[in-house]
Amino acid sequence: MEIKVEVGDIQQHPAKAIVVNLFEGVKKPGGAAAAVDKALAGAISQLIEEGEIKGKFNELTLIHTLGRLPSPRVLVVGLGKQAEFKLDKVRDLSASALRYLRRVGAKTVASVVHGAGVGGLEPQQCAQAIAEGAVMGLYRFTRHKKKEEEEREIEELTLVELDAAGAAALRQGVAKGRILAEAANRARDMANEPANYLTPTMMAEQAEVIAEEVGLECEVLAREQMEELGMGALLGVAQGSSQPPKMIVLRYRGDRRRKGTVGLLGKGITFDSGGISIKPSAGMQEMKGDMSGGAAVICAMWALGRLKPRINVTAVVPATENMPSGSATKPGDVLRAMSGKSIEVINTDAEGRLILADAIAYARQQGLSPIVDVATLTGAMVIAIGKAATGCMSNNQELCQKVIAAGEAAGEKIWQFPLYEEYKEHLKSDVADLKNVGPREGGAISAALFLAEFVEDTPWVHLDMAPTDNADKEKGVWVKGATGIPTRTLVNLVLGLAQEKPPARRRSQQGGTPGHGRAAAS
Ligand code: BES
Ligand code: ZN
Ligand code: ZN
Repeated sequence: MEIKVEVGDIQQHPAKAIVVNLFEGVKKPGGAAAAVDKALAGAISQLIEEGEIKGKFNELTLIHTLGRLPSPRVLVVGLGKQAEFKLDKVRDLSASALRYLRRVGAKTVASVVHGAGVGGLEPQQCAQAIAEGAVMGLYRFTRHKKKEEEEREIEELTLVELDAAGAAALRQGVAKGRILAEAANRARDMANEPANYLTPTMMAEQAEVIAEEVGLECEVLAREQMEELGMGALLGVAQGSSQPPKMIVLRYRGDRRRKGTVGLLGKGITFDSGGISIKPSAGMQEMKGDMSGGAAVICAMWALGRLKPRINVTAVVPATENMPSGSATKPGDVLRAMSGKSIEVINTDAEGRLILADAIAYARQQGLSPIVDVATLTGAMVIAIGKAATGCMSNNQELCQKVIAAGEAAGEKIWQFPLYEEYKEHLKSDVADLKNVGPREGGAISAALFLAEFVEDTPWVHLDMAPTDNADKEKGVWVKGATGIPTRTLVNLVLGLAQEKPPARRRSQQGGTPGHGRAAAS
């Protein structure tokens, strides 16, 4: 779908549908809706009077123009209460209005910039939200289905703006919104892909393609390199599978003069059967999405390659299957992680924290700081918070606040949980330095505390996205299936960090390979 910005009068636009809006409770349409109303001999006002149009959020009313306007259809969208109006609503409205018009069969659509006029929001941000909502809302995963004859597409969306002076900003908004949404859709594609089409090897190949496309460096560590580095935790998870594990590393260098590199880490379990501690079969197919954290990180890197902020970022994605077999890790086995710590594996289904332990150690060896990891880590997080938000935990409140704000800007809710010392004893083992699971209570927190053992003093935020990686129904920008969360959050975060004054330069004193000096703690 092409998205354009044009200067002009929307009622003159010949698109197959034009979209105007109104707030809840207004008696007379305003702005573009008023002009359209006039051309339609008061049809909108009449529908308001009769109570069919109330302006409630997400209310969609289709009016056929029968030759009174160049466009055959007008879609009136309700913006809801003016006091509750914000960018999230613009994004969601754009998604649902366009899905509706796709069903109607309108191939071309022209829309006013929702939120910019009476809405009082920043026009550029509204344009971004409309583009984001359009691209995310129209997402479908159809690769493995026979193409339906009837499959309809919207080919062109035009944002129509009266004032020529504002058009450049709208175009910028559209461009950024597109990139963010396309990045999220790519992450959705990866997460929706069945595990037989997305093995660790194929995930690494996709990362290579992405790197090539936007000019990132890509390095893929194979089993031998993992052995050399002593990644016993990751290898312990991988040893039950006949698919070889891959550690995917993508590097974006947007500021060669800046010391320090942000680390984005993502769980890349391409299928989580649970291993010997095997999961019940009901719902197990959903565990093809246990690499959504890794997908989000890889696709955020794609967006960064396109947006080119002045900052350095490295993504690290440990990718493997978690399978039961004669060679699989058994409950009670002890693994030696890259950091040197030994881990008693109580439950082989708590594999995410094992692979991330080695990813974190590798990230620290590379001098990455701060570190943000994203993972579908625990069912306990879903029990704790339901499915509305991603949980986060951190050893650095300032950084944590930035991640939460980046999520808010993306319409991806993030809620913080505590990392109280008290829970640490849950991970004490009789035979090793740590065990990989504690009791059921506070399970998401002990999982994060397990990671904290490897993070040590590096500023770090952990996102447990088990609640949000998958949507069970269509709503606003979400469609059924993978959500692409938290791809846009990560991009927003990095764009924000790039705007900050770089940390004071200091000579790299320890660790790190050349060009990867440790950043001063932020
Ligand atoms: N991948 C799962 C967590 C998960 C659950 C993600 C539901 C998405 C939806 C993870 O590897 C896992 O199995 N965790 C166990 C940990 C337990 C054994 C301590 C869990 O949550 O049950
Ligand atoms: Zn598991
Ligand atoms: Zn898992």
